[in-house]
Amino acid sequence: MQVLAICSQKGGSGKTTLCGHLAVQAHRIGDGPVVLLDCDPQGSLAAWWNARALPGPEFARTTLASLDDDVARLRARGFRYLFVDTPPAASAAIARVMRLSDLILVPTRPSPHDLRAVGATLDLAERAQRPLVFVVNGATARSRLTSDAAVALSQHGTVAPVLVSQKVVMASSMIDGRTVMETHPESPSAREIEALWLYLRERLARLANREAFLRRRIPVGGFGRRRIEGEAAESADELGEVT
Ligand SMILES: Nc1ncnc2c1ncn2[C@@H]1O[C@H](COP(=O)(O)OP(=O)(O)OP(=O)(O)O)[C@@H](O)[C@H]1O
Ligand SMILES: [Mg+2]
Repeated sequence: MQVLAICSQKGGSGKTTLCGHLAVQAHRIGDGPVVLLDCDPQGSLAAWWNARALPGPEFARTTLASLDDDVARLRARGFRYLFVDTPPAASAAIARVMRLSDLILVPTRPSPHDLRAVGATLDLAERAQRPLVFVVNGATARSRLTSDAAVALSQHGTVAPVLVSQKVVMASSMIDGRTVMETHPESPSAREIEALWLYLRERLARLANREAFLRRRIPVGGFGRRRIEGEAAESADELGEVT
């Protein structure tokens, strides 16, 4: 199971909106099983999911006290992707979520306030040693502020090559537990979410490959001994390793 946490200290940046949309998109195109986790005491994602009549993705409850155990339980149940919505904070609790994550998505509105607030989230992700991707949410077409925001963010890390536009349908689609792909499947907003998920899925796949590669290269038997175990020994030739 891979964990995608949506985090940003700034309130209203689009964490819950993107969490629900991306999870539904992964589910719709058969990338699941997908499960959602709401770590925000405001419970907006839970409320949206409770209003949802369409099948999938699944939803799990958690508290900060039981977070690690709950994630382990979901992992054991065989989910492929876990999407975690978080409260607007840069706290020790968010750091814990980050440490459990494979990738952190940071939605940022193209506003000076949002841009100023990214530092705290960025510091937390760096300390947690987890990769982070920014996505500009609430973008307006041909706006200088939007392109400036993408440039400013790119100085701090990777920016998703897909902007999510400011559109009423993004908000209205969630009223009855749906998403824009379900209420307005032909809309540009639906296209954006589809493209954003494909990009994130690709990044997650690359991270999983890298993890697997590093795991296979870890020598067993302690420091200074160049023995490589099991499957790794078979792949050692392929990697040009001295065993
Ligand atoms: N791309 C968008 N277009 C239009 N409205 C949007 C878009 N993204 C989010 N919104 C709206 O902006 C508001 C804030 O979004 P959301 O609740 O997803 O932010 P959040 O980061 O989860 O907020 P909080 O920090 O309070 O948890 C909501 O009313 C949502 O419907
Ligand atoms: Mg929220």
